[in-house]
Amino acid sequence: MSLDLDERQRAMLAEMNIPVWWPPTAAEAEVEAVAMVAPAASVPAASSPVAPESIAVSAQPARAAGLKHSEDQVAPTLQPRPTGIDTMDWPALQAAVAGCRACKLCEGRHNTVFGVGPAAPAPGLAPQVDWLIVGEAPGENEDLAGEPFVGQAGKLLDNMLRAVGLDRHSNAFIANVIKCRPPGNRNPEPEEVAQCEPYLRRQIELLQPKIILAMGRFAVNALLQATVPEVHKLPLGKLRGQPHQYRGVPVVATYHPAYLLRNLPDKAKAWADLCLALEVLQRAA
Ligand code: URA
Repeated sequence: MSLDLDERQRAMLAEMNIPVWWPPTAAEAEVEAVAMVAPAASVPAASSPVAPESIAVSAQPARAAGLKHSEDQVAPTLQPRPTGIDTMDWPALQAAVAGCRACKLCEGRHNTVFGVGPAAPAPGLAPQVDWLIVGEAPGENEDLAGEPFVGQAGKLLDNMLRAVGLDRHSNAFIANVIKCRPPGNRNPEPEEVAQCEPYLRRQIELLQPKIILAMGRFAVNALLQATVPEVHKLPLGKLRGQPHQYRGVPVVATYHPAYLLRNLPDKAKAWADLCLALEVLQRAA
């Protein structure tokens, strides 16, 4: 019996947490076979557009190595993350994200999703915003558009932000923990989160927001892991209701808009979180 699922059906099953195994396609089989024998160090550093981070090279798993299609055609897939992220200015950071091939998510993406906000006040500078909203990772719509939260969850987010006088094009910046779409909308893997983490960290350094709204489990874990012991073990409900800290910036934890679309009664709690964030901001002013 063959189970012939198209990409949308696989994604739907993944969304419902129903694992399905199907035989690999010929292309997938080739990737697996090459990944099993290719040494990680075979990635040619010289082909990297920016200087490689040596730690990142050794951290790449075997499957991250270059993919050899034939004797005369070598298609390197993954490269080390750019160095110097922590000193980049905004345009350099944007370019680094756009060209990033440090984890396997680069292979399936249409676009990287850096974030969206008002225009920068001058060339080289980051947008000036008090609010930073952080989600998890781009979905299918975001991957195609190159912009975060453009689907149904994004409409809800925009409506909620509008209710407190915020707008993605004038006074709030929206970003994700992960800049590339995980296939089938699966959860990001720890290695993908780790590879992307310096980008969000530098975005926050440059934006200097006065308040961060962390939406959903991944954003909360990523932003609070250094300040809340065993944050990943705490239910989100326990992290709501009081401001936390990320490198000196207050963080309010709240539900992810996609969760709210499925759990309408919790919208009232998300509204309370937004009001808390507003209060924290006003108190600091
Ligand atoms: N969910 C997210 O977390 N981020 C997006 O950009 C879209 C959906």
